[in-house]
Amino acid sequence: MLKNLIMTAEIIDGKFLAHKVKEKVSKAVSTLSKENIVPGLATIIVGTDAASSIYVKNKGKSANEVGIKSFQYALPEDIVEEDLLELIEKLNQNNDVDGILVQLPLPKHINSDLVIDSIDPSKDVDGFNILNAGSLFIGRDGVIPCTPLGCLLMLRSINIDLKGKHAVIIGRSNIVGKPMAQLLLREDCTITTVHSKTKNIVKIVKDADIIIAAVGIPNFVNSSWIKKGAIAIDVGINRLKIDGKNKLVGDIKFEEAKEVTSYITPVPGGVGPMTIACLLMNTVLQCVKRNNMDQPSSLRNLF
Ligand code: GUN
Repeated sequence: MLKNLIMTAEIIDGKFLAHKVKEKVSKAVSTLSKENIVPGLATIIVGTDAASSIYVKNKGKSANEVGIKSFQYALPEDIVEEDLLELIEKLNQNNDVDGILVQLPLPKHINSDLVIDSIDPSKDVDGFNILNAGSLFIGRDGVIPCTPLGCLLMLRSINIDLKGKHAVIIGRSNIVGKPMAQLLLREDCTITTVHSKTKNIVKIVKDADIIIAAVGIPNFVNSSWIKKGAIAIDVGINRLKIDGKNKLVGDIKFEEAKEVTSYITPVPGGVGPMTIACLLMNTVLQCVKRNNMDQPSSLRNLF
């Protein structure tokens, strides 16, 4: 009730929630170790993009923290497609590897679709493979892409009824926008996806009960776009230089948006840590499936 009078958003703490997910993943890994099974995650990065290198290192480090064995491959920018495909085929055949992640984007001379589809669907931990992406689209079981899954778990953590809520997704990437729409559709939300060619974008966003901002443009959404009491999930991780200092900012102007929203995710410490936690969870789930075991109880009904 008070929320209608004084609107300062509650912060959805991604770091805290990611810690909770990682605890559950650790528990599942311990259960697997009793059967002498150690889940393995292979990460592949091509080139030296600083941000991507940090993300991939963090993914490997976090895997080790929860007891997942990490195999990290850093390949040169000019690697030929054939060599990359050969590495993926080796990892497909390697029984110690349950998950394979190729960090995107790949250099232009490499056909990303071909690379993604060369990953064995049973080792795809991103859910980008054509089979898993298709499964999500038609409501079959499959791997759910890490960032949208992280966003959904954050929404679940605040215990609101998602049914019938108007969710506006800003951005239509295969990594976030499109799978996010499918996931929220499964939750009975009404979905609008807006993008760079959308007319009346402000009017549409202003109608949203839930905003998922995933455009990769710093501070794209300001408070005048947001309906009072809306929930804002900010997927953007943009690097800006402010007063000579490097700063991470989201796609939403956090300081002003928190004055109109009911709940908001910060950047950093919001969606980013949840993406990694969900990657670890997907790795364990793939491991469990590949070993014909039941889903560990610690990973059921998260939030
Ligand atoms: N690049 C940006 N986000 C992701 C992700 O979730 N997975 C992969 N493989 N690449 C990315």
